[in-house]
Parts: sequence; C-alpha cells; structure tokens
Amino acid sequence: MTTALDGLRAGLLGIEDLSRTEIEAILRRAKEFQQQQAPGKKSDALRGHMVVLLFFESSTRTRTSFEIAAKRLGADSVSISVAASSVSKGESLVDTLNTLAAMRPDAIVMRHAASGAPHFLARHLPIPIINAGDGTHEHPTQALLDAMTILDHRTSLEGLKVAIIGDIAHSRVARSNVHLLAKFGAEVVLCGPPTLLPTELGLLAKGVKLTYRMDEAIRDADVIMMLRVQLERQFETTFPAGEYFGFYGLRQEHVALAKPDVIVMHPGPINRGRELSSEVADSQQSVILNQVENGVFVRMAVLERVFS
Ligand code: NCD
Repeated sequence: MTTALDGLRAGLLGIEDLSRTEIEAILRRAKEFQQQQAPGKKSDALRGHMVVLLFFESSTRTRTSFEIAAKRLGADSVSISVAASSVSKGESLVDTLNTLAAMRPDAIVMRHAASGAPHFLARHLPIPIINAGDGTHEHPTQALLDAMTILDHRTSLEGLKVAIIGDIAHSRVARSNVHLLAKFGAEVVLCGPPTLLPTELGLLAKGVKLTYRMDEAIRDADVIMMLRVQLERQFETTFPAGEYFGFYGLRQEHVALAKPDVIVMHPGPINRGRELSSEVADSQQSVILNQVENGVFVRMAVLERVFS
C-alpha cells in the first residue's frame, strides 16, 4: 500500500494529496528547526546529497530559501537559471530534465509556468521532484510556511476565519492554501473582483466561501492573506491596474474590521499601493517577513523528509 509518507519520499508535488498527519509532521519538524536554529548554523544531516534547483520562472524568496535550507542541512545545491541554460536554445522540458538526471542529483526542486509540469516529470524521472510552484496550480511549500506562520500566532487552524484576497484566479498560493486550510477545518473566504474569482474555486474544498466584497471577507477574520496581481498570467490587457487599489487594496480601515489580533500575510513579492498600503505592510499586524523566515524552516523539513 502506498502511504502519504511514501508519496513524500518520491517528492512533494502538492498539498492536495498530503494527509493531515503528513502536514503535521512537516510543521512539527519545521518548528523544531525554528526553535533550534542559531542563525547561520549548519548541520551535516544531508551531507553528500545534491539538490538541483531548476527555476523556469523568476523567484527571489522560494529559490533562495530552498538553497539556504539545503546548505543549512549540509547538502550541496546547484541552481540553474533557465535563461542561461539550453532551454533558451530550444531544448524540450523532458530533454533538459533527462540531461540533469544523468548527472544524478538526489532531488530536483522546480518551478514552471505550466500547471502539472512537475507531475509530468515525476512520472518520467526516478528522482524526487519538489514543486516550487507550477503555473496556477499548486505551491505546496508556500502553504506549509503560511500554516506555520499562522500557528506561530494561533494554537490551531480549526475554526479560524482566513480571508484570501486578490488575484485568486491565477494564484497557486491560494489553491495550495485552500487545500491545506480546509483539511484542518479553517473557514476560508476567497475574495476578489469577479474577473479574478472564478466561481468553480468554491468547489476546491468543502466549506470554501466566495465574495466580491472586502468588508464581508475581512469582518472578524483571524488572518488576511493578500495576493499579488499576477499580470504575467493575464493575457488580455484589460486589467484596470490603476483602479485596483481603490477596490481591492488592503488599507487600515479594512484591517479594523477584522479581529483585533488579526495577522496580515502576503507571499511576496508585494506591490505597495496596489495590493496593500505601506501603512498595512509595515504595521504590527503584518507577518510578511515572518513568512519568509519560516520558509527556510519548512523547506529544511521538506528536504529532510524527501531524503529520509
Ligand atoms: C508566489 C509565487 O511565485 O507563486 N511567490 C512566492 O513564491 N513567494 C506568489 C507570487 O509570485 O505572487
């Protein structure tokens, strides 16, 4: 019988297929790293392992934190920038991956603009693939680090009201978070303009609600999770970028509607004056930099499990 644990040993493709027990184990280990970690201290737990980071889309946080996580555990890492690789010479995804696989890395961390790209490769390569974001589909380590950050401020996810606001349609962060939060009994409210909030997303998991109204989404929320407007995934040029902030940008007056101890999150990169005001981004309630910090601990826990 294949268990979720076996699944993770074969890599990490998404949150949807992970069990609660599996998620809890990763979060527990990430918490231990958070508590133990003296800044910059390295262990040699993964010494002799080679992690290849293959990013077909730009990334600051995710790539750097996977790299730091690998190094802190003593693994070697090689980062391949697609712009400087043979992909720009017309090589196909499978050929690029087969070439890399022939160099025998122990795991590949990949980000790709096509939803399902890491799943496709996982079927072809005998190497664990860790999904660092595939198109609009999933971004599992982001949802894990988000859960960890919420749990730094709350004792449990169950019963929390989490408002996820912005460009839901194009967001793999929203999808992975919906899967994770729903598994743990949180109330998830998705909010955005009608063109960026497809109604079928209400079917993603049980109990997910949709609204076009910021006040409705935020009232009594425990967590406000803002999303970047992903203009790179919008192929029509009708997006009213200038007006967006007026309708869906998070301002202090919105935050005042939430619970007094609400936390404000954003996966980054943030666009001040579009998705949220600077006042909110830099406020006491903002845990945006804590998310970045927890990203390293979660990725250490994921790498460790993949190699265990
Ligand atoms: C997110 C992504 O790439 O999906 N960023 C991230 O990983 N921190 C969200 C985004 O780019 O808007």
